[in-house]
Amino acid sequence: MQIYTQPEELRQLRHELTLTGKTLAVVPTMGNLHDGHLSLIEKAQSLADLVICTIFVNPSQFGPEEDLDAYPRTPDADLAALRRYHVDGVFTPGVEGMYPPGDETRVTVPALSELHCGAVRPGHFTGVATVVCKFLNLIQADYAVFGEKDFQQLAIIRRMVTDLFIPTEIHGAPTLRAEDGLALSSRNGYLTADERQRAPELYRQLMLTRDRIQQGERDYRQLEQSAHEHLTREGWRPDYFSICRQHDLQAAEPTDQKLVILAAARLGRARLIDNLTVDLK
Ligand code: PAJ
Repeated sequence: MQIYTQPEELRQLRHELTLTGKTLAVVPTMGNLHDGHLSLIEKAQSLADLVICTIFVNPSQFGPEEDLDAYPRTPDADLAALRRYHVDGVFTPGVEGMYPPGDETRVTVPALSELHCGAVRPGHFTGVATVVCKFLNLIQADYAVFGEKDFQQLAIIRRMVTDLFIPTEIHGAPTLRAEDGLALSSRNGYLTADERQRAPELYRQLMLTRDRIQQGERDYRQLEQSAHEHLTREGWRPDYFSICRQHDLQAAEPTDQKLVILAAARLGRARLIDNLTVDLK
């Protein structure tokens, strides 16, 4: 497995691959890899001849009060996992590499970025879109794979790639969960043992809400409020619990058919996000 740390090395790799006619897929991550990340790697391997994973805890997507310093960094375990999965290369740039002195351009997808997580984490999605745009431009991969767990992030990346004519095909991959339903996440490590036991409640509320919609309930604002109140009673601090349209993430109306229920809530030190799609016919 090749380890690249400098942006220029990726340019060289792209040049060599073009000469051999091999296809390339990239899986961007912030490291602390778990089985969810590794499922994206497998998807990438099914798409392309070669797979590169990026590991970069991107400072520009963390707010001043957020967990940039505390964010778990496990480089040795990450490299071992990527070797086990026969990943071809890993790109682990430093902050100076991605944001050299004088760097100032930012990529913003305004409407989608202001909703949901964006409303609670101002500037977060501009940081995500900017770093993903930099990776896609540098690597010029044929494919890039992102998790549906971060539904809003995936929607923003798809919008950006379309709007900026970035020639990389974006693929989503399903959310990997623990046996009790909790979506795998690096931030689950912030949960105490007691909180970890209670954490699947977020997914249970998503499923309950989905079941009610499928049974014909159409008062979406009432369903949102009921889940919100339930989580609050159970000791969570919900940021939002919203029944939305899949295509623009705006509040769903009873006539909409392709829905996604988006939720983010804090439990102790951890802020957990999850979602569930509902396709009505
Ligand atoms: P990170 O949180 O490390 O996630 C990297 C990728 O793994 C994302 O596409 C995310 O959606 C996916 N992922 C996380 N948990 C998952 C799970 N349980 N099942 C399936 N996929 C899962 O998301 C980021 O990093 C960053 O914002 C990034 C896109 C790398 C830009 O910095």
